[in-house]
Amino acid sequence: MFISTRRLRRCQFLQVLATCFVMSLMLMWVQNDNNVVNHIKSYSYRYLINSYGFVNESLTVVRDKSDIHSYNYLISNREKCRNENVLLLLFVKTSPENRRRRDAIRRTWGNEDYINSHYNANMKLMFALGVDKDPAKRGLIQKQLESENKVYNDLVQQDFLDTFHNLTLKFLLQFGWANSYCPNAKFIMTADDDIFIHTPNLISYLKDLDQIGVQDFWIGRVHRGSPPIRNKNSKYYVPYEMYQWSSYPDYTAGAAYVVSQDVAAKVYEASQTLNTSLYIDDVFMGICANKMGVVPQYHLFFSGEGKAPYHQCIFNRMMTSHGHLDDLHYLWKQATNPKVIELTSGFWGDAYCRLINTMLLCRIQYQDTYPCSAAWS
Ligand SMILES: *[C@@H]1O[C@H](CO)[C@@H](O)[C@H](O)[C@H]1NC(C)=O
Ligand SMILES: *[C@@H]1O[C@H](CO)[C@@H](O)[C@H](O)[C@H]1NC(C)=O
Ligand SMILES: *[C@@H]1O[C@H](CO)[C@@H](O)[C@H](O)[C@H]1NC(C)=O
Repeated sequence: MFISTRRLRRCQFLQVLATCFVMSLMLMWVQNDNNVVNHIKSYSYRYLINSYGFVNESLTVVRDKSDIHSYNYLISNREKCRNENVLLLLFVKTSPENRRRRDAIRRTWGNEDYINSHYNANMKLMFALGVDKDPAKRGLIQKQLESENKVYNDLVQQDFLDTFHNLTLKFLLQFGWANSYCPNAKFIMTADDDIFIHTPNLISYLKDLDQIGVQDFWIGRVHRGSPPIRNKNSKYYVPYEMYQWSSYPDYTAGAAYVVSQDVAAKVYEASQTLNTSLYIDDVFMGICANKMGVVPQYHLFFSGEGKAPYHQCIFNRMMTSHGHLDDLHYLWKQATNPKVIELTSGFWGDAYCRLINTMLLCRIQYQDTYPCSAAWS
């Protein structure tokens, strides 16, 4: 076969170029400790971390029974689920001072009575919290919490300080409570208190799943092969002594995720044998699940940390969106307005919404909301 010298030269040139490119990548890998490189590094460990037991073995501790239930319930609402057929037990992680947020949630997406009567599904809403971190205000706030609970019966509180670094204790509170007092709930969800959950969409989705009878179910926005943050200035800083590997097992963003009853039980069981000093609660959940061999699934309309764009076509499909405080009433109106559902369904509504959602979600610059593929799902 005849190859012209010109073509040969071009091939060599390309080869040299490719080699240079790979070399510079490797150099960057070694020298630079920036975010992107960290993610590439950690992602390449992902398979090992998810597939073998070394993470869970390194964090397994031998505990004696006495230090497991070391925090006491101050408010427990033990009777809330008793003898009821609960479809969804929904925990909202809140803090003592966030009364306004709780009230807004109770009036909108967390309105149990509305969900029960309009969607014929038994949903239980519970707020999980510790005690106020400010000792000067603690007594007064505790009294207020107790009277708030007299009205709504929806608080679960233990006597640990309600701080960011105690989030894993709050996680244990939720799964411990679910395990002890609501073991028959079909699904358990945990969510932040600055989030919007499209409960009508969620309930109808879970009802369908319940009909099929799913197991090993864990859904949310999945973080795959995320690196621990080693920068001491970060809120999420994790020292090597706490977690020595360069990647976390896959986990769902703590902003909102749902598990089936069997997963909740397994995760709770695992949590009793793991070192709970790792204070990032969603990562801790990932480690518990990894120990039990449970794998998370990505739902395209769970937003994680991101805030969804405002549009009826998005509202029609959304499950969760993060970072909502004052617009809960607006979003809830959209979620429950039959006109929105009518406008965005049927052949033309569907075609229109695909177009709109493509425009909203398929942007070049990175947005932490729903992925582009959500527009076509
Ligand atoms: C985690 O470790 C335990 C032993 O501590 C082991 O039985 C289990 O299979 C491991 N899980 C995974 C997913 O490898
Ligand atoms: C977590 O709560 C415990 C019990 O109240 C407290 O002693 C501890 O200081 C808290 N930890 C943090 C990091 O706030
Ligand atoms: C848990 O991990 C911490 C480091 O984050 C360590 O200091 C502690 O000794 C461990 N606890 C047990 C019981 O192994």
